[in-house]
Amino acid sequence: MASALFWIVLFSPTVLSFVVIVSPRKGFFRVGDQERVVCNVTGCAQTPDITWGALEDKPIAASIETLGSESVITYKNVKRNDENRLVCKAKCGGEQWKQGEITVKVYEFPEVPVITGHERLVLGEPATLTCNVSGVYPGQETEMEWLTDGKTASDPVEGTGNTLVSSFPLTPTHADEGRNITCRAWHRMWGGEKSVIQTSVTLSVLYGPGEVQVSGAAEVQVGDTLSLRCSAEGRPRPQLRWRIQRLSSQWAELEGGQELVVATATHAHAGQYQCVASNTLGESHACLNVSVQGPPRNTSLTLSPPHPIREGESVTLSCRTLSVPVGKVRLLHGEKELRSAVGSEVDITLDDIKLDQAGRYHCEALNRYGTHTNSTQLTVTAHPLQLELLPVGVVTTEIGSALSLVCEASGCPHPQLSWATPSSGVEGATRDSANSPRSELSLRLDSIAQEGNYTCLARCGSVTTSRHTQVALFSFPTAPLVERSGSLLEGEQSTFRCVLRDAYPREAFLFRWLLGDLELTTQTPAETTPAFESSVSVTMEQSLRGRPLTCEAELLMGGVPDVRRRSSIAIIMDVHHPPRNTSLTLSPPHPIREGESVTLSCRTLSVPVGTVRLLHGEKELRSAVGSEVDITLPAAQLDQAGHYHCEASNQYGTHTNSTQLTVTAPPRNTTVEVFPSQRVMEGENITICCHSVSFPPPLVTLTKLGNATEFSSHNGTFVLTNLTPSDTGDYQVNVTNDLGFHTQVFTISVMERSSVPSDGWEALLIPAVVIGSTLASAALLLDFVLRSRKKGSYKLAKCNSSSA
Ligand SMILES: *[C@@H]1O[C@H](CO)[C@@H](O)[C@H](O)[C@H]1NC(C)=O
Ligand SMILES: *[C@@H]1O[C@H](CO)[C@@H](O)[C@H](O)[C@H]1NC(C)=O
Ligand SMILES: *[C@@H]1O[C@H](CO)[C@@H](O)[C@H](O)[C@H]1NC(C)=O
Ligand SMILES: *[C@@H]1O[C@H](CO)[C@@H](O)[C@H](O)[C@H]1NC(C)=O
Ligand SMILES: *[C@@H]1O[C@H](CO)[C@@H](O)[C@H](O)[C@H]1NC(C)=O
Ligand SMILES: *[C@@H]1O[C@H](CO)[C@@H](O)[C@H](O)[C@H]1NC(C)=O
Ligand SMILES: *[C@@H]1O[C@H](CO)[C@@H](O)[C@H](O)[C@H]1NC(C)=O
Ligand SMILES: *[C@@H]1O[C@H](CO)[C@@H](O)[C@H](O)[C@H]1NC(C)=O
Ligand SMILES: *[C@@H]1O[C@H](CO)[C@@H](O)[C@H](O)[C@H]1NC(C)=O
Ligand SMILES: *[C@@H]1O[C@H](CO)[C@@H](O)[C@H](O)[C@H]1NC(C)=O
Ligand SMILES: *[C@@H]1O[C@H](CO)[C@@H](O)[C@H](O)[C@H]1NC(C)=O
Ligand SMILES: *[C@@H]1O[C@H](CO)[C@@H](O)[C@H](O)[C@H]1NC(C)=O
Repeated sequence: MASALFWIVLFSPTVLSFVVIVSPRKGFFRVGDQERVVCNVTGCAQTPDITWGALEDKPIAASIETLGSESVITYKNVKRNDENRLVCKAKCGGEQWKQGEITVKVYEFPEVPVITGHERLVLGEPATLTCNVSGVYPGQETEMEWLTDGKTASDPVEGTGNTLVSSFPLTPTHADEGRNITCRAWHRMWGGEKSVIQTSVTLSVLYGPGEVQVSGAAEVQVGDTLSLRCSAEGRPRPQLRWRIQRLSSQWAELEGGQELVVATATHAHAGQYQCVASNTLGESHACLNVSVQGPPRNTSLTLSPPHPIREGESVTLSCRTLSVPVGKVRLLHGEKELRSAVGSEVDITLDDIKLDQAGRYHCEALNRYGTHTNSTQLTVTAHPLQLELLPVGVVTTEIGSALSLVCEASGCPHPQLSWATPSSGVEGATRDSANSPRSELSLRLDSIAQEGNYTCLARCGSVTTSRHTQVALFSFPTAPLVERSGSLLEGEQSTFRCVLRDAYPREAFLFRWLLGDLELTTQTPAETTPAFESSVSVTMEQSLRGRPLTCEAELLMGGVPDVRRRSSIAIIMDVHHPPRNTSLTLSPPHPIREGESVTLSCRTLSVPVGTVRLLHGEKELRSAVGSEVDITLPAAQLDQAGHYHCEASNQYGTHTNSTQLTVTAPPRNTTVEVFPSQRVMEGENITICCHSVSFPPPLVTLTKLGNATEFSSHNGTFVLTNLTPSDTGDYQVNVTNDLGFHTQVFTISVMERSSVPSDGWEALLIPAVVIGSTLASAALLLDFVLRSRKKGSYKLAKCNSSSA
């Protein structure tokens, strides 16, 4: 190798007594190392003076230590800048300076070349290894090479400056596994062991797991040990794990590596086992189906439908088992085998089931390991036949009405319905359709023979049932009638009979008699076919009059509508009596003036009504059938005054009342009669009769005109006695009553005795009265006779009769 050598040039004169030696001879230092340069003075008896100097213009960056005849320069950490030429000078006593010299050269290598690209070599995938040598100093002098299997496999070295790179292409095969490959570099100039650096790597070729192998027993018996093994190649070494899939459900992870051991196998351990091998380059797996064998289990026997079955329906019995290995299943009813099959299931369908097919059914599963049985109870129920009859109970209905009975069965798919009726030959049972669960019986209830129970009968398989409706009839077509016998006259007894026709049933009826609100009696009816009746006797009293006597017939039978339950008739009690309380009233009631209007009203109480007559005196003014009669006098006259009678009569008698009609009028139509004459002889008496129409009776005054003396009379008669000629003059009568007055003036002439014959005077003066006598004595002479019945005016009877 062309490694350079440095040497120290020694200056050694022959006579010299001491020597300066600088070691090492060659200062060939590697950057980073610790190096020493020693200057040793030998042959000097005393302690020499030693100094160091640098020939290049650089300071010495190192520690210098001088001890005795030795001086040491120590480079703790060699740097490229430490390249220099060093001189060690020494002087021993008086001798000449001597010196030694060393040229320090510096080189640099990294610790080792760095090989990359070998970390992940995959089988068959081309790869390139790269070797880097960096920090090379001085670079131009460095070489690199690859060594493998002891052979050199140089490749072009690239690199500039301080870094060298060489690459090594490679497609890994299994043969490359474990192969050593080395990259080395050295200094061409200096050679020597120290200048060669190298790095070796051992190749490792990676590959994914290939075929996975699972081994073990695929069939184990319950309780045995299940042991499975798994193996797979690959680098890195594949990891092994186990999974199981039971009955095509999800995969479940298991514990285990190369070996999977289940100490005691159960059915739960059956399934598809999978060993999965995986490394960084991939994964692969293998499966093994393991069956765990044992006696049959989970044997079940199910019914479809599951609930209790009705007679006539069908049911399917399904027997299922889990059996590994597959064996045989048998379906039994009690001891009797119904069906058997090889496999794990057997079904049987029982149609139109009968009650005696109920009971316990067994499913028996067997294989070479054993037997397993399950059983179930088949319940067959009779049909819950329900019958509904509407209306139900007691139906009360009126004779002649229609009734519809509807019978409806439930709980049975095909019921048979029929009817039983009290009288044969009832028509009208209809069914909605042949198999309908509904039947309707339409009845026209015309006869009491149809009363009784109507029964609807239903049959369903082995079940029968019935419902009945009791029909009760009634008839209450009319209201009762009341008939009477006996007198209606007060105080006598009358009998009332209440009769109800065409009613039924008698025993359900009740008659109730009411007088007003008072209940008289309640009776069950007596039968007088075809009617029922009841009677009551009543003593006729006035207080009963106008009160209702009610006969109520009540039908006391359940189910009769309220409106049909009662019927009644009321008669108003008519108590007869003769007329009474007859009255005759005037309107207005007070005396009236002539010409005013007055109404006479005649009223009576009479049962029954008879006739009323209104009479004025003996004269009938008006009569009427009834209890009243009125008459109005639009302009009453004095002669209409007087007594009026109201006469009421009926079959039982007559009753009369009367009243006085008073008509007033001021005096009028006054006439004066003078008896015997207005011309009399002296000494004679004169009677003056005043007539006036007037009511109330007037006061009549007589005055001689020119003489204040006044005579008054209530009856209008004045007697002037023993007249003298001085009595000759004009006289005035003033007829006065409350309503007014009326006067008449007349003349009396009294002649002297000699001039008049005396015959007539005596005769004429017989009834006269002496003027001036008391009023009482005058009343004896004058007489007012009330003749209101005929004329309604007062007259002087005597005067009249005298004058007539
Ligand atoms: C210095 O030189 C003497 C004599 O040659 C020798 O004995 C001694 O070992 C040397 N010392 C060193 C450090 O080389
Ligand atoms: C090797 O050298 C190349 C080129 O100089 C450089 O790109 C690469 O990073 C180096 N690799 C290492 C590991 O030093
Ligand atoms: C590779 O080198 C290692 C040590 O560096 C050694 O133990 C091994 O035997 C070598 N391999 C081969 C195939 O030479
Ligand atoms: C294992 O059983 C499964 C079904 O459970 C089936 O798909 C698969 O093919 C079986 N594997 C083997 C190896 O028999
Ligand atoms: C019978 O089957 C039923 C329903 O499948 C199950 O609940 C019951 O445990 C079984 N009985 C036996 C003895 O296996
Ligand atoms: C009808 O049925 C009832 C029971 O609800 C019974 O008392 C009655 O005697 C029966 N009538 C007839 C006519 O059968
Ligand atoms: C006549 O009628 C009156 C009044 O109505 C009455 O007061 C009187 O008693 C009756 N007389 C008779 C006899 O009824
Ligand atoms: C009163 O006199 C008039 C005529 O002067 C006569 O029409 C009438 O009838 C008289 N009345 C009576 C009640 O005499
Ligand atoms: C009036 O009449 C009375 C009786 O007739 C008589 O006594 C009286 O003298 C008369 N007086 C005069 C003034 O005539
Ligand atoms: C008649 O008598 C009345 C009542 O006394 C009286 O008011 C009236 O003036 C008299 N008439 C004459 C004409 O004297
Ligand atoms: C007149 O009346 C008186 C008694 O009242 C009587 O005495 C006398 O005789 C009467 N004169 C004549 C003429 O009748
Ligand atoms: C008239 O009245 C007087 C008393 O006032 C009486 O004496 C006389 O008898 C009466 N005359 C008649 C006819 O009633």
